[in-house]
Amino acid sequence: MIQFENVTKSFGNRPILRGVNLTIEKGKTTVIFGVSGGGKSTIIKHMVGLLKPDRGIIRYQGRRIDNINEQELREIRKKIGFLFQSGALFDSMNIGENVAFPMREHQKLTPKELNRKIDEKLTMVGLEPSVVRSLYPEELSGGMRKRVGLARTLALEPEVILYDEPTSGLDPVTSDFITQMICRLRDEMGMTSVLISHDIAESFKAGDHYAMLFEGVIVATGDKAAFQASPNEVVQQFIHARSVGPIAFH
Ligand SMILES: Nc1ncnc2c1ncn2[C@@H]1O[C@H](COP(=O)(O)OP(=O)(O)OP(=O)(O)O)[C@@H](O)[C@H]1O
Ligand SMILES: [Mg+2]
Repeated sequence: MIQFENVTKSFGNRPILRGVNLTIEKGKTTVIFGVSGGGKSTIIKHMVGLLKPDRGIIRYQGRRIDNINEQELREIRKKIGFLFQSGALFDSMNIGENVAFPMREHQKLTPKELNRKIDEKLTMVGLEPSVVRSLYPEELSGGMRKRVGLARTLALEPEVILYDEPTSGLDPVTSDFITQMICRLRDEMGMTSVLISHDIAESFKAGDHYAMLFEGVIVATGDKAAFQASPNEVVQQFIHARSVGPIAFH
């Protein structure tokens, strides 16, 4: 579904991606592990054209997207939903308006149809529309905001969802709810997902494929069993939460 071929990216003179090769398979959940500041968010921002590679190729369904214009990127962004690390709701809009926003931007729906879809997406993420629609983001807990963010991501019925730390800062019950949502969307709708998470236990519940980013390259990939049994020392250190030496703090 998405392919990275030798993607490099530097910020200033700091190389962050040094030749990333990665395949995201259709209908599967791919987890990307890596230390903080290692470039995980940088990778998924390239998937929706928020960043352009210095070198290398990125394909979506076989078609290059690393060198396309803003108009073409708009079409890609309808198909690839992005749940931002920060949640990124619009504070000045109530919850209903937040979920409606991408539909107003990209679709021509009647008010009735728009209302129905807002309620449908909020219900999907386990929120009661009649209760939350008129509330503002500041009135919600972090977990509820994450769910609203997901409802907004689902609004355009994307083919792919990119989750950047969807469970960070959430209690275990809410984290597990998000993990179950990721699995249900795959199982019931065939969703393709990319998951970045430091929550190793939740990630191993959600993922089909795993990739380890280390010093700007993908150093190991595999399904759960193969990845957990990987002879790669970085993988073993990471999944068993052992210190990986100075690189853990750069
Ligand atoms: N637009 C930018 N301009 C300059 N530097 C950037 C930019 N985006 C990211 N960086 C730097 O690139 C590095 C990788 O950042 P990135 O956000 O991809 O890491 P990450 O793996 O997602 O980390 P975390 O787990 O903390 O979210 C960081 O050092 C960051 O400061
Ligand atoms: Mg990040």
